[in-house]
Amino acid sequence: MRLLVCGGAGFIGSTFARQRLREHGDEVTVFDKLTYAGREENFHDIGEDPRFRFIRGAIEDREALAAAVEAASPEAIVNFAAETHVDRSIAEPDAFVRTHALGTYVLLDAARERDLRYVQVSTDEVYGSIDEGTFTEESPLAPSSPYSATKAGADLLVQSYFHTYGLQALICRGSNNYGPYQYPEKLIPLMVLNALHGDSLPIYGDGMQVRNWIHSTDFAAAIGHVLEHGHPGDVYNAGGPDEEANMTVVRRIVELTGASESQIEHVADRPGHDVRYSLSSEKVRALGWEPRVRFEEGLGQTVAWYRDNGWWWEPIRSGDYRAYYERQYGRSLHG
Ligand code: NAD
Ligand code: TYD
Repeated sequence: MRLLVCGGAGFIGSTFARQRLREHGDEVTVFDKLTYAGREENFHDIGEDPRFRFIRGAIEDREALAAAVEAASPEAIVNFAAETHVDRSIAEPDAFVRTHALGTYVLLDAARERDLRYVQVSTDEVYGSIDEGTFTEESPLAPSSPYSATKAGADLLVQSYFHTYGLQALICRGSNNYGPYQYPEKLIPLMVLNALHGDSLPIYGDGMQVRNWIHSTDFAAAIGHVLEHGHPGDVYNAGGPDEEANMTVVRRIVELTGASESQIEHVADRPGHDVRYSLSSEKVRALGWEPRVRFEEGLGQTVAWYRDNGWWWEPIRSGDYRAYYERQYGRSLHG
């Protein structure tokens, strides 16, 4: 297949691009704005593949997008492009509204113009928090943060293009991803790198919040299944096999890195913090997908990857990330 992968320079998008090139023999054009989270380093091992191409641009930029679509001549568009960190959405929601609402709209128009199959990559956070039980595709949307609210808005736009214009559009909603190449603002890579450096491990509130963890290669594979076998107009949830409280995850990281539990610090809770996410994946399993990586094994591999790949994260930790980290954690960690 010839694919245009928007947002493919980020964590999951680059994992998906690698998987489609290596395991499916697809032609992949990545179109990405390269925000702080998008990095050409994520293509270090696929950049030279003749079936791979990278074009820099924003999905809300109609002209740049049209040029990329012309160059890639895709059979399908898969959209990963997003601002993805809840804490940043609380501090500065602007880019979230622009990319998720305006960007998704412009991209849908481009897909409609050529009648392309379209997969929107979305999140379980659009359903909000659930104390007991599990979200299905029928659960109502009840997002809590500017991140999840704008992602829900994007999902509704996608569905409107299916209903109104007959666009062959599908949505795949994943639970919390972890694995190599994840920007260290998210829980697992942040804690791994801080643990390895002897820094504080900042837990929001009591740390009893629960997340449903999925390895990025499993989520990428679920998106591939939806792309190839999904029913247009439908939503597919893809959750991981394990649910863990944040404290349990961080304690395990302390053990795996040989850090000390005394590095753990409880800091002010995130405003509007969702207590628990849990996702039923029966519908995507019926397409032939199943998660392969259990959390215990995947976390060990992920810690080893960060330990062995300083070349990837050293430029991040010494760049703009420091200013972000200071803004987000400075006051609560230093008193
Ligand atoms: P990421 O932050 O690592 O990457 C996002 C990518 O999108 C970056 O390469 C960035 O440069 C690009 N981008 C941002 N705005 C853009 C724009 N306007 N135009 C073009 N490119 C733009 O994110 P990720 O964790 O890889 O997430 C990818 C997708 O998966 C997102 O849609 C996210 O909502 C969804 N998702 C993520 C998770 C998770 O746990 N990380 C879970 C479920 C769903
Ligand atoms: P995060 O990785 O930001 O993903 P999301 O908010 O999209 O689920 O956070 C995962 C969980 O970890 C969430 O409950 C918030 C918590 N958390 C901390 O306790 N400390 C931190 O420094 C971060 C980044 C997250």
